[in-house]
Amino acid sequence: MNKKPLILGIESSCDETAASLITENEQGNPIVLSSIISSQEDVHKEFGGVVPELAARSHIEKIDLIVQKAIKKSGKSINDIDAVASTAGPGLIVCLSVGLSFGKAFACAIEKPFIAVNHLEGHALSPKINSKINYPYLLLLISGGHSQFLNVKGIGNYKRLGTTIDDALGEAFDKTAKLLGIDFPGGPQIEILAEKGNPKKYDLPKPIFNKGGCNLSFAGLKTAVLKISKKIKTEQERYDLAASFQKTIEDILYKKTKIAFEEFEKQENLNEKIFVVAGGVAANKKIRSMLIDLAKKSNYKSIFPPIELCGDNAAMIAMVGLEKFKLKQFNDLDYPAKPRWPLDKDAAFLKGAGVKI
Ligand code: KG4
Ligand code: ZN
Repeated sequence: MNKKPLILGIESSCDETAASLITENEQGNPIVLSSIISSQEDVHKEFGGVVPELAARSHIEKIDLIVQKAIKKSGKSINDIDAVASTAGPGLIVCLSVGLSFGKAFACAIEKPFIAVNHLEGHALSPKINSKINYPYLLLLISGGHSQFLNVKGIGNYKRLGTTIDDALGEAFDKTAKLLGIDFPGGPQIEILAEKGNPKKYDLPKPIFNKGGCNLSFAGLKTAVLKISKKIKTEQERYDLAASFQKTIEDILYKKTKIAFEEFEKQENLNEKIFVVAGGVAANKKIRSMLIDLAKKSNYKSIFPPIELCGDNAAMIAMVGLEKFKLKQFNDLDYPAKPRWPLDKDAAFLKGAGVKI
């Protein structure tokens, strides 16, 4: 019996310090032996957003402890590890450098291969941890830093179908939460407030709803929320604004996902239609159920990562490490941190004023 690969994954691209050990069973299905995540919410709360310098310091303070914990929890020893995979980008460079340098040093010390992982590829492959998924599949990645539709053709092989031209969806949730007086990171609180409100109370804009294919835009929505939030007097009006925001996002994602289905089908000759949703916002229960219904209606099988693997974690980084290990895709120890690292390097940069879509 061949030894199954044991991969240590490390994540430090933003405000989560995380480590995980992954292996696979006899059937080749991944098994998460440990996944330790230390969030820095308390560090950044008073500033209303992530402060890069403080985030990096916190990663430095905790990284060895988190990795030790992950190894201990896995029941394995350091000598059993076959490769070390660290997030190399995209993200905050001062934060990336911590996990990347730690991972390289660790791999060097145990004399095992090092694998540099794209954080977005981690999100893209995160549902493969608990579901068998064949390529190609359509991915909607909705996180705090990115919002994209991608044709996932294989490991390292992506074709972007659509992207946000301004804010990421998680960012729009967090900014709306801030305007409603909710502490950072408030995104997850919106859907809780929304349950008590009337989604029809405020008519919010849906930027580029009827143009731009499956590209997305949320900046105008944020401005509208800002204006209304200044006039809000009662608690009920707060709930109504949260509910109207949540409903507007659902409407936008419904329409844009339908377009993405059409574009994906134009690109691929499909035997089975698979729709994967990943990233922090994929934890939003109402968005999940709306997308599950839409997928069903459109004959797609929808797959989500487990809720605990929607946000940033190292199991998804180790998962990419596992796939790359099997393909012997290793990296040198001078691999740089990459603050910007698109999955589809041929896709046009679509951000900022004057963008043509
Ligand atoms: O994937 P993630 O952990 O980090 C990035 O790679 O960006 O995503 C974090 C984002 C935050 O903006 C957070 O507010 C949002 O995901 N988020 C949610 C929910 N849970 C997390 N947004 C809406 N509803 C939720 N339940
Ligand atoms: Zn992320």
